[in-house]
Amino acid sequence: MFDSLPLCQCLKIKYPLILGGMAWIGKGALAAAVSNAGGLGTIGSGSMTLVELREEINRCQMSTTKPFAVNILMLDPAVEEKVSLLLELRVPVVIFGAGNPGAFLETFRRAGAVTMGVVSSENLALLLERAGVDFIIGEGCESGGHIGSVTTMVLIPALADLLRTPVIAAGGIADGRGIAAAFMLGAQGVQIGTRFIASVESDANETYKQMILKSGIRDTVVTGERLGHPVRVLKTSFSKKIKRMELDSSEEAERLLLGSYRKAYQNGNLHEGSFLAGQSAGLVHEVSTCQEIIDKMFTQATTILEYTNTHIIERRKNEQRGSI
Ligand SMILES: Cc1cc2nc3c(=O)[nH]c(=O)nc-3n(C[C@H](O)[C@H](O)[C@H](O)COP(=O)(O)O)c2cc1C
Repeated sequence: MFDSLPLCQCLKIKYPLILGGMAWIGKGALAAAVSNAGGLGTIGSGSMTLVELREEINRCQMSTTKPFAVNILMLDPAVEEKVSLLLELRVPVVIFGAGNPGAFLETFRRAGAVTMGVVSSENLALLLERAGVDFIIGEGCESGGHIGSVTTMVLIPALADLLRTPVIAAGGIADGRGIAAAFMLGAQGVQIGTRFIASVESDANETYKQMILKSGIRDTVVTGERLGHPVRVLKTSFSKKIKRMELDSSEEAERLLLGSYRKAYQNGNLHEGSFLAGQSAGLVHEVSTCQEIIDKMFTQATTILEYTNTHIIERRKNEQRGSI
C-alpha cells in the first residue's frame, strides 16, 4: 500500500516513516533500529560534538545496511564542520532543522544525498522549495522540542496546497490513526519523535521513559515563548517555574534553562531538567521495540485506510445506482 509513495520510492524503504531527529536521544542505535524496522532512522546531531557525531554515524552504519538520516540544526555553531563530516562519511539523507540550508543543498545534491527541511511556516517552506530540497517536513505545534504556532491539522493541508514538493507530517502522531489522518491531510509520509523516546532502543533514561508513559495529553507546557524560542516539554515543577520566571526575569529563566536538556536526558533530573516531549506523550502507554511500534502503527493505518477506501467505493457505487 505504501511502496509507491515518493519517500518509499526514493529511499527504497518499506514504510513512509521518519524518526524525528532528537537532540540527546536520537543516537546511532535508535536510528539503526528504526531503519531496520522499515522506516528511516535519524541521528539528531544537535547535542553532539564532531567526535560524538562521527562515532554515532559509525555505530549506525555498523548496525544497518538500510538508509538513515542525520538531522542538522542550521543554528549549530559547528554546522559547516558537521556538513563536511556527513559528506566524508557519505550519509545518504540529511534533514535540516531551524533554518534555510541554502548553498549546502547543492553540495549534498552533487554528492547524491537526499535532502529534507523541517518547517513550521509556509514562508520557510516556500524558501526551501525554491532552494530545491527533496522533501519538506511540516511540523505542527503539538510536537516535542522547538515549535511554531500552527497545529499539524492546519499546517499540513496548507503546505500540501502550496507546494509541489512532497510534504511529510510531523507533530502529534503516535499511532496508526495519526498516520492515516496525515495522509487524509495531504501528507505523503510522517515524522515521529515523542513515541520513540519510549522505545527499548532509545537512550533516554528510565525516569524519562516512565514520565512519557504516565503523561496525559495535557501534561506538556511550552517554555521559552517569552524568550523567543518556544520549546514543548513535559510539565514538571521545574518547567512550571521557568514559565512563571519568564514573566519577570528572562535572564534568570535563560540561565536556568542552560544545560537543562542535558540534565533531563542524562540523569532524569526532575528539579533542573527540561524533558522535551510532544502532546502525543499522552497517547503512549508502553515501552516497545521500534519494530513492534512501527509494525503496529502501520497495521492500524492500513486497516483504517482500506476501510475508508472501501466505504468511498461503496458510496460511489450507491450514488451511481441512485440509492443515495
Ligand atoms: C526530545 C526531542 C528532541 C528533538 N530535537 C530535535 C532536533 O534536534 N532537531 C529537529 O529538527 N527536531 C527536533 N525535535 C523534533 C522532532 O524531530 C520531531 O519533528 C517531533 O518530535 C515530531 O513531533 P512528535 O514529538 O509529536 O512526534 C525534537 C523532538 C523531541 C521530542
